[in-house]
Amino acid sequence: MAKIIIQGKIKKFNKTIRVDGDKSLSIRSLLIGSQSYGLCKIKNLSKSGDILSTINGLKKLGIKIIFKKEICYLYGKGLNGFNYKKNILINAGNSGTFARLLLGLLIKTPYEIKLVGDKSLSKRDFQRIMDPLKEFGANFKSQKKNLPLKILGTEFLKPINYFEKKGSAQCKSSVILAALNTPGKTLVKAKKSRNHTELFLKYLKVPIKIKTKKNYDMIEINGENQFKSFNYEIPGDISSCAFFIVLTLLSKDSNLTIKDVNVNPSRIGFIKIINQMGAKVKIKNKRDVYGEKLADICVKSQKNFKSINCPVKFNSNAIDEFLIIFLLASKASGISRFRKLEELNKKESPRLKLASKILKKIGIKVKLGSGSIKIFGNPKLKVSKKILINNYYKDHRIFMTSVIAALCLGGKWTIDDMESYSSSFPSFLDILQKIGYKFR
Ligand code: S3P
Repeated sequence: MAKIIIQGKIKKFNKTIRVDGDKSLSIRSLLIGSQSYGLCKIKNLSKSGDILSTINGLKKLGIKIIFKKEICYLYGKGLNGFNYKKNILINAGNSGTFARLLLGLLIKTPYEIKLVGDKSLSKRDFQRIMDPLKEFGANFKSQKKNLPLKILGTEFLKPINYFEKKGSAQCKSSVILAALNTPGKTLVKAKKSRNHTELFLKYLKVPIKIKTKKNYDMIEINGENQFKSFNYEIPGDISSCAFFIVLTLLSKDSNLTIKDVNVNPSRIGFIKIINQMGAKVKIKNKRDVYGEKLADICVKSQKNFKSINCPVKFNSNAIDEFLIIFLLASKASGISRFRKLEELNKKESPRLKLASKILKKIGIKVKLGSGSIKIFGNPKLKVSKKILINNYYKDHRIFMTSVIAALCLGGKWTIDDMESYSSSFPSFLDILQKIGYKFR
């Protein structure tokens, strides 16, 4: 259990950086690639623990994946082309996205496949994905609604009409992937959430229709249509950028440009929220690549931020960024309110609860509800005491938010379970060093 000690704020910086490849797109490129036919060439794949779990899982299912000069070569074996055997065990590690999306691709397995995960993943809800996959015809064995679980597929799949009400991109995507191997038309009505799976399949010319309504997306997939392999380059992860954007905003006299970031409208809720709080984060040089939107992000230090009554419509599009948004809210003038965030307590850790604990530790008044939080901001907030961050379920985003808080608020911070950040953003500390922070 390594820990990091941070004492003292970061000095002013003026840098241009790149962050690791987007995690959602990295996982999707591998899973969709496994169902394509032929050799896929994927550049800038994230090297995080979650992607390693995805690669190891796919290898167990007979998919050949090799790396040459940083490029990932994946040999797609076509729809339902996995090499099914008895007693396959797949360890999804910390990755809810891999675990849930993979189940969608396993609905035809003729042998039981066991899926396990680490301690944090084993606490998370899998009922939400077992329910729709059962409707296709798959069978599950699990204790309660969690991992470990066993899936047994069927040849006699039937397409479903699925209504996704939580705004979960993982549930929506898992059903879409299941539909690829199911004859006929699957219909999905989904509360708005990140739409990478749909855009990826559309880019590959898979028969998929997407209709965008005000609060929902309607998706129609025509299954059992083989598609070809592809070349893809993964753009930078906006969720990783979020830490450096807030670091720059809250530091003195600093400037940061982040190149080649995915700015898919379903992912930039974070920028919309903080810009409503008075931040002036700019999205420049916007372009279309592989059916997604890319841009460079420019941000400067600023002095004053306003509190926000956060519109619920942004929740799903900023779901992974709330911890770092709460940090900004703690330096804003006035009371910020965030509502309908029950899903945040169902992540790698109960994030809403832990955020409130950490904010209280640094002297911020907080009112916590079951899915809501009120943050009484203090623009003069500084920390001069010792802060210990421990027992946070090794949640990578709690670790990284705490490091950023330490670097912009001061004090002496000891943050346990340092290895956690590599499950999503292995270059995090290297980039901080590049920006100028010297770790002891
Ligand atoms: C993800 C969807 C979100 C998000 C997760 C990645 C994805 O989860 O929190 O980090 O890649 O589909 P939910 O679908 O549970 O909201």
